[in-house]
Amino acid sequence: MGSSGFSPVLSSTLITLLLVCSTSYGAPTHHPNKRIHIHHRVSSHNYKEALTKSILFFEGQRSGKLPRTQRMKWRGNSGLSDGSAANVNLVGGYYDAGDNVKFGFPMAFTTTMLSWSVIEFGGMMKGELPHAKQAIRWATDYLLKATAKPDTIYVQVGDANRDHACWERPEDMDTTRTVYKIDRNTPGSEVAGETAAALAAASMVFRKSNPSYSKLLLSRAMRVFHFADTYRGSYSSGGLRNVVCPFYCSFSGYQDELLWAAGWLHKATKLPSYLSYVKSNARNLGADEYDNIFGWDNKHAGARILLSRSFLLSKISDFEDFKDHSDNFVCSIIPGVPSYSSQYTPGGLLFKLKEYNLQYVTSTSFLLLTYAKYLALSGKSVECGGSVIRAGKLRSIAKRQVDYLLGENPLNMSYMVGYGKKYPQRIHHRGSSLPSVRVHPSRIPCSSGFQMMYSQSPNPNVLVGAVVGGPDQGDRFPDQRNDYDHSEPATYINAPLVGTLAYLAHIFGQI
Ligand SMILES: *[C@@H]1O[C@H](CO)[C@@H](O)[C@H](O)[C@H]1NC(C)=O
Repeated sequence: MGSSGFSPVLSSTLITLLLVCSTSYGAPTHHPNKRIHIHHRVSSHNYKEALTKSILFFEGQRSGKLPRTQRMKWRGNSGLSDGSAANVNLVGGYYDAGDNVKFGFPMAFTTTMLSWSVIEFGGMMKGELPHAKQAIRWATDYLLKATAKPDTIYVQVGDANRDHACWERPEDMDTTRTVYKIDRNTPGSEVAGETAAALAAASMVFRKSNPSYSKLLLSRAMRVFHFADTYRGSYSSGGLRNVVCPFYCSFSGYQDELLWAAGWLHKATKLPSYLSYVKSNARNLGADEYDNIFGWDNKHAGARILLSRSFLLSKISDFEDFKDHSDNFVCSIIPGVPSYSSQYTPGGLLFKLKEYNLQYVTSTSFLLLTYAKYLALSGKSVECGGSVIRAGKLRSIAKRQVDYLLGENPLNMSYMVGYGKKYPQRIHHRGSSLPSVRVHPSRIPCSSGFQMMYSQSPNPNVLVGAVVGGPDQGDRFPDQRNDYDHSEPATYINAPLVGTLAYLAHIFGQI
């Protein structure tokens, strides 16, 4: 650990003390010198650098016309006529992962989580805050286009089966850019609900810096939520089933998104109608369902933590149940408590699912830090079957997960590309793995890219900040390009990490 010469035992004691004692969130601390003194000794990772890179990654995922301020220079313009198949403008937005499809469902979730990161920890981001807001705006500008027509949302551009049959740079893309939408006859309450949540959360991010943009986002969020709730149905069981499945098929139904979206609308508008919506619908929307996997599909755990804030900090007693549900979620993660039910790898990584596991590590770490914040500010703790768990314990678990991700693991491998001495070299990402358009301007057609896909050479373009799916349950990581479950990055893996890293960079005095 670092070069302090401290014994590991002493260092971890200090970390625990630090995490337990800290209750300040961007507010001036009472003992600034003491804090910094301790921080310099115990921080073994450069969380500030990781934060910068985690945001930079989003520039590599951009679709559309790149601005002059683009820092990820190996990328170029792409998808400039997206939407033309339906006579609408759908230029912009993000590619979700290593392919060139624009999937509305994960894009909206990414936007919600980036916004939540800024809402909770933006005050700690300093010079990174403008970059984080730009990353959000790249998505919200697109979501505004996708929701411009009432009771209609364009939820996908590109045919995933056709796209996946090619290995080509987004700049060369020549597969059909079919446009898919939901409307009154083809509902999709999970994607509509998540889009409403994203717009509402983002409206809070821009409230002070750009009030008119914020108002537009919020009024759109309200309209989209009304559509999601009025025309109920799942986009993955209706007419779009063969389009969105098996890619971003919703397995958890749309109830979780309706609850989550209503929670965000309540937070953003403070209107009593959303409060009563949550109150009267919570049970039939599955609020007390036992599920602790938080990701692009299932929003229950996130909704609980979000709504617990209203009880803990705004004293809305109707929401007390959400504190209990949040406690249940947290208790399932803490080794040794009676209701503990999670799996960790031998190296200490929270292991939820075999595919893209790090998305659950980043989302869970974010929820732990956010809940710790609410608990600390309200002077409350978590009850786990008789044991009292304090905010500091939640923070130290989150820190340990981030430290694993950044390289404190049996392979000494950083799972963030471009961070640390050893990181994935062959990520499953078309743009990163093929020569840049700046170096090789002539087209690389659809099928010839597969040569690169199956080669052992490292990716020529470093997709700085990308966090990949991560190791398996034995802490192993083959670093093979065709192994997408472990080697593919995704925007929703990074989004919750942005807030988490801001907190750690702040608390360790790096920012
Ligand atoms: C990881 O780093 C530690 C400490 O420097 C070292 O002892 C160990 O051999 C390394 N493991 C691998 C797989 O490189």
